[in-house]
Amino acid sequence: MAFRENRASKSSVFFVSLFYLLFFCYSSSKGVLGQSPVFACDTGKNPDLGDFGFCNSSLEIAVRVDDLVKRLTLKEKIGFLVNKAGNVSRLGIPSYEWWSEALHGVSYVGPGTHFSSVVPGATSFPQVILTAASFNTTLFEAIGKVVSTEARAMYNVGLAGLTFWSPNINIFRDPRWGRGQETPGEDPLLSSKYGSGYVRGLQQTGDGDRLKVAACCKHYTAYDLDDWKGNDRYHFNAEVTKQDMDDTFQPPFKSCVIDGNVASVMCSYNQVNGIPTCADPDLLAGVIRGEWQLNGYIVSDCDSVDVFYNSQHYTKTPEEAAAVAILAGLDLNCGTFLGQHTEAAVKGGLLNESGIDKAISNNFATLMRLSFFDGDPSKLHYGKLGPDDVCTTENQELAREAARQGIVLLKNNVGSLPLSPTTIKSLAVIGPNANVTKTMIGNYEGICNVPTVFAYLAGCCTLYRHVSNHYEEQSKAYFNIYMFMFSGTPCKYTTPLQGLTASVPTLYQPGCSDVACITAQIDDSKGIAAKADATVLVVGADQSIERESHDRINITLPGQQELLITEVAKASKGPVILVIMSGGGMDISFAKDDDNIASILWVGYPGEAGGAAIADVIFGYHNPSGRLPMTWYPQAFVDKVPMTNMNMRPDPTTGYPGRTYRFYTGKTVYLFGDGLSYSEFKHHLVQAPELVSIPLEEGHICHSQKCMSIELFEKGCQNLAFDVHLRVKNMGVMSGSHTVFLFTTPPSIYNSPKKHLLGFEKVFLTAQKEEVVKFKVDVCKDLSVTDELGSRKVVLGSHVLHVGSLTHSLNVRI
Ligand SMILES: *[C@@H]1O[C@H](CO)[C@@H](O)[C@H](O)[C@H]1NC(C)=O
Ligand SMILES: *[C@@H]1O[C@H](CO)[C@@H](O)[C@H](O)[C@H]1NC(C)=O
Ligand SMILES: *[C@@H]1O[C@H](CO)[C@@H](O)[C@H](O)[C@H]1NC(C)=O
Ligand SMILES: *[C@@H]1O[C@H](CO)[C@@H](O)[C@H](O)[C@H]1NC(C)=O
Ligand SMILES: *[C@@H]1O[C@H](CO)[C@@H](O)[C@H](O)[C@H]1NC(C)=O
Ligand SMILES: *[C@@H]1O[C@H](CO)[C@@H](O)[C@H](O)[C@H]1NC(C)=O
Repeated sequence: MAFRENRASKSSVFFVSLFYLLFFCYSSSKGVLGQSPVFACDTGKNPDLGDFGFCNSSLEIAVRVDDLVKRLTLKEKIGFLVNKAGNVSRLGIPSYEWWSEALHGVSYVGPGTHFSSVVPGATSFPQVILTAASFNTTLFEAIGKVVSTEARAMYNVGLAGLTFWSPNINIFRDPRWGRGQETPGEDPLLSSKYGSGYVRGLQQTGDGDRLKVAACCKHYTAYDLDDWKGNDRYHFNAEVTKQDMDDTFQPPFKSCVIDGNVASVMCSYNQVNGIPTCADPDLLAGVIRGEWQLNGYIVSDCDSVDVFYNSQHYTKTPEEAAAVAILAGLDLNCGTFLGQHTEAAVKGGLLNESGIDKAISNNFATLMRLSFFDGDPSKLHYGKLGPDDVCTTENQELAREAARQGIVLLKNNVGSLPLSPTTIKSLAVIGPNANVTKTMIGNYEGICNVPTVFAYLAGCCTLYRHVSNHYEEQSKAYFNIYMFMFSGTPCKYTTPLQGLTASVPTLYQPGCSDVACITAQIDDSKGIAAKADATVLVVGADQSIERESHDRINITLPGQQELLITEVAKASKGPVILVIMSGGGMDISFAKDDDNIASILWVGYPGEAGGAAIADVIFGYHNPSGRLPMTWYPQAFVDKVPMTNMNMRPDPTTGYPGRTYRFYTGKTVYLFGDGLSYSEFKHHLVQAPELVSIPLEEGHICHSQKCMSIELFEKGCQNLAFDVHLRVKNMGVMSGSHTVFLFTTPPSIYNSPKKHLLGFEKVFLTAQKEEVVKFKVDVCKDLSVTDELGSRKVVLGSHVLHVGSLTHSLNVRI
């Protein structure tokens, strides 16, 4: 999310704005250091508040909400429709800032959260795409738990809100997407497991409906294009088939609401089939609140309502835009649009006050579940958390562990990795990402890079970021300002060079001045590679290459990186280890095929402890087990396929190859699920049925005529499940974890996926140990596919299960 860019702006505007902003921040910076939390019903200060029903925590939330709404004037109500919510001092309600973020750690992005000398940073976990690569659902939840503990601790000292607009669970449909790094990848099942797991970690209190913090699944829906060749997210109309909608774009959101019980969903900037998502009553009121029964609030991106009025011209007047959004089911507007235009919409008869009541009731109910209306939080659950609970040793250790678990080993010639720290007397460490800090964080993290004496300015970072977001596209110079001011300082950093140097003596050359690598410094790099016992090249991308508001054009390594790698590899004395730091996949076919390159690791953006985790894998202190959560395509894919084509399925008539491992028919560089270990794991099928019969009632039409499929709602397939058991053995000499993927290929009708993931389980096995891994397969849920009209069906006939190289055929009949 970000405020909109103004493409017509001039450089002078940038500097003038920056000046005013600095001035504004300076003069309004008091209070940023805040020591006390924001909450309502402070009966300590004002005992009369105890008489209000909405302050009485022994009443039911719905009763309290009704009591509160009845006491408000129309103007006051409208103040609760926007992220900077109004205060009503006669009722003891302070202003509340709804916008905080915690994509992979508590983040400065969003005016609800600040860092200060009291809490100078928070634990920064790997960027989500790497955490997803761990395929470890326990880890997803464990990270969420740590993040919400740090968030509550910061709330208690007035530095954070309680409502966090994370996670981002959009499907990573195209490798060029600058925000793909924020997501759990391309697979609907993995995205669902990640989203619901992280949300549970953030939200769960163990106390019924109460929330630790409120999470938000975004950006609903079919949002995965930021800015590509002049197509930007504020104007993009995603044309999506019913079939792709049902089996690709919607499943993570459905799971987030139903399995994760998330407290919020955010609608996106783009249109879907001609309707802005935040103005679509079918998508919001119909699906999220109606079908999925969201218990929480629906919020707009910042500021989607303004965008669909001003940029998309979806309505004629701003009042109509306000009415359309609220009637569609929007409850909260990130931005100011509804604050400005809702009253006129009511006066003009476009909207009844009851529509506003419904929206703010959802917002209030969420705040009540967070105990915002229960008085002094220091006396409540989580009231004892404070600055000492942020950046603890255990929390930082989990950040390192998450990076270790996610790192993917893509190539490993015999005798290369792991390197032995006792035999390597010198290690050449080369490349533009070899000694980076901020790059490891990706986006949506950290605090402003201002010295402690200026810590009070930290609260203005969000504002800086917005101004710079407006202008960053203008030139590289602005981008450097952006990077300087807005990239973060988490608890601390361990760079790859520092991580490696902790085990062996190193020689270091950056090789290029930055990842753009306009001119590689090849000779100096070759020099150290020729001397050292082994060479580690750390290359890839950073936020200048792929980020919010910036999609890639090419998916090759930037500039002269490829030349640097090839030349260094030729000159190296010892084995060459190539480490790719990036969010999106890279066309590194050249390195895959180069015999001089012994090993390849993909490390995502590995977070604050990334360098330590990379060293743990390279020296074999940790046996790698990460698997790619997305397909790596060759450059030819992006040369041919427009990013704007949303279709998942191939089209033989146009040569369109389709997208992701489920549909893509072309050449790949690496596959979804690829990833090696230092051990070999063998699978053996122990149990799986060959036949599954769906019992249909007598007289069912499929008894008398041949059916290809049955409808999902038929009773026969409900609660019908079977087990698949596999024995998995670690054949190696090192302990390690291994992810077992259970895929299925359905009979080929309805343009079904080539194969899709039914389940995954990660197991830890010591050397030579074996274990039985069990999957429960639900016939209705797991074996069904979506037909061209978007309805789910169980296809009769032969379904082929795959686990690694094992296949097993399963006949589904009636
Ligand atoms: C709060 O509500 C409970 C349950 O209705 C009631 O017994 C109690 O008197 C109320 N407390 C106050 C201070 O009104
Ligand atoms: C409450 O809101 C009013 C305007 O609605 C503003 O003048 C006042 O400063 C606010 N008070 C606080 C404590 O935020
Ligand atoms: C407002 O309420 C009236 C009476 O309940 C209803 O007839 C009308 O359709 C409502 N208008 C809107 C815009 O919801
Ligand atoms: C590597 O980066 C760290 C942290 O930014 C810095 O302190 C150190 O001087 C750098 N090392 C080299 C050899 O440049
Ligand atoms: C993409 O690669 C082509 C050559 O393959 C090059 O001409 C072009 O400059 C590259 N574009 C970008 C944005 O890097
Ligand atoms: C999954 O992650 C948790 C938390 O870090 C860890 O304890 C567990 O060992 C991991 N599971 C496997 C199979 O690696």
